[in-house]
Amino acid sequence: MLAGTVLWLAEVGYHVSIIGRDAEKMSRLTEQVSARLSAVLVDYRDDLCLKEAMRRSIAIHGDFDLIVAWIHSDAADALPCVLSALRRGTDVFHVLGSRANSSGVRNRLTITEDVCYHQVQLGYQVVKGQRRWLTYEEIAGGVVEAIQEKKPLYLVGNETR
Ligand SMILES: NC(=O)c1ccc[n+]([C@@H]2O[C@H](COP(=O)([O-])OP(=O)(O)OC[C@H]3O[C@@H](n4cnc5c(N)ncnc54)[C@H](OP(=O)(O)O)[C@@H]3O)[C@@H](O)[C@H]2O)c1
Repeated sequence: MLAGTVLWLAEVGYHVSIIGRDAEKMSRLTEQVSARLSAVLVDYRDDLCLKEAMRRSIAIHGDFDLIVAWIHSDAADALPCVLSALRRGTDVFHVLGSRANSSGVRNRLTITEDVCYHQVQLGYQVVKGQRRWLTYEEIAGGVVEAIQEKKPLYLVGNETR
C-alpha cells in the first residue's frame, strides 16, 4: 500500500529500510532502486526481533531521520518499540485506518519530546456524491503530502466516516 511512498522517499534521497516478512514480495520492491532500499525481514509482533532489526539497521545506515508506521492493531507494542530506538528530533508519521480514533491512539502512546509525532488518517474519496475507498496510489501520495506538510494530523481523502 505504501510502496509509492517508499519510492518517493528513495527518489528524494533517503535510504529506506522497509519492514515486512515476505522476502519475495519485498524483493519486487527493493530491486526497483536497490542502492537506496533495504529489506528488514522481521515480524513486527516480535518485540525482541524488531528491536534487534532496528539496532542492526542503525548500525549499518545510521540513525533514522523519519519513520512511516503502518502497523496492524495486533501489534500494540511495535510502535513503542520503534519509538524507543529513535534519536531526538526524528519525525514519525503514524498512518491510521479510517475507523481509528486518532486522539485515542495518540493518548495511549507515550510520546517523549524526543520525537516529532504526526498522524496520517486514511479517509474516503467522495466523487459525484458517491463514497469510495482510497486507491493505493492515493494513499501513498497522501502520505507523501503529509510528510511534506508535517501537520499533527493529516487526512488523506475527503472524510473519515
Ligand atoms: N480508508 C481507505 O480508503 C482505505 C483504502 C485502501 C485500504 N484501506 C485499508 O488498508 C488495508 C490494506 O492494508 P494492509 O495492511 O492489508 O495491506 P498493505 O499495506 O499492502 O500490507 C501491510 C504491509 O505490512 C507488512 N506487514 C503486515 N503484517 C506484518 C507483520 N506482522 N510484521 C511485519 N510486516 C508486516 C506487509 O508485508 P508482509 O506481508 O511481507 O509481512 C505489508 O507490506 C485494508 O484492509 C483496508 O481496510 C483503507
